[in-house]
Amino acid sequence: MDPSFEAALKNAVRTIPDYPKPGIMFRDITTLLGDAGAFRRAVDALVHPYVGGKVDKIAGIEARGFILGGAVAHQLSAGFVPIRKKGKLPHRTVSVAYALEYGTDEIEMHADALVAGEKVVLVDDLVATGGTAEAAVKLLRGLGAEIVAACFIIDLPELGGAERLRAMDVEVRTLISYE
Ligand code: PRP
Ligand code: ADE
Repeated sequence: MDPSFEAALKNAVRTIPDYPKPGIMFRDITTLLGDAGAFRRAVDALVHPYVGGKVDKIAGIEARGFILGGAVAHQLSAGFVPIRKKGKLPHRTVSVAYALEYGTDEIEMHADALVAGEKVVLVDDLVATGGTAEAAVKLLRGLGAEIVAACFIIDLPELGGAERLRAMDVEVRTLISYE
């Protein structure tokens, strides 16, 4: 990865100490999203390996994965599947509970959002413990999806999430990391 590209992306992410709990260094992508050049470059980098290939659906994780995943889906002419926090989807759902860096939660998706065998790229802003993405992989695979890769702007490698996903045979791509 081009070091100046990484530096530019890092420069566009804001860090807020002790949010939402003491000891958490919150990596805030709203500043990156508000910077037209950084937003475009981040989405282009996420999309790049799949241009000209076959991706049926982008699955984006609520909430920040919706913003990035929608842009990625548009550029790849793929469909978009929202993976939502519990209780938000109106039709029949499948769900998985998971632990967070700072709490627990449950995500779900519509049971008919995919056809078995479809090629899916999972998109979110950040992987920390990997609990959220692992739950999303379980949901997608449970419906028969073939997961092409899980893609994130930010990796927090000390929390082991990317390795946890690779241990599930998921290809993981991240653009920048914070030790
Ligand atoms: C954040 C982030 C990822 C997840 C990563 O979302 O956007 O989805 O945490 O953490 P993990 O790798 O430890 O699971 P959050 O749950 O804070 O929800 P939000 O996007 O709705 O704020
Ligand atoms: N989700 C989990 N950990 C996070 C962090 N440190 N910053 C932003 N989002 C997160």
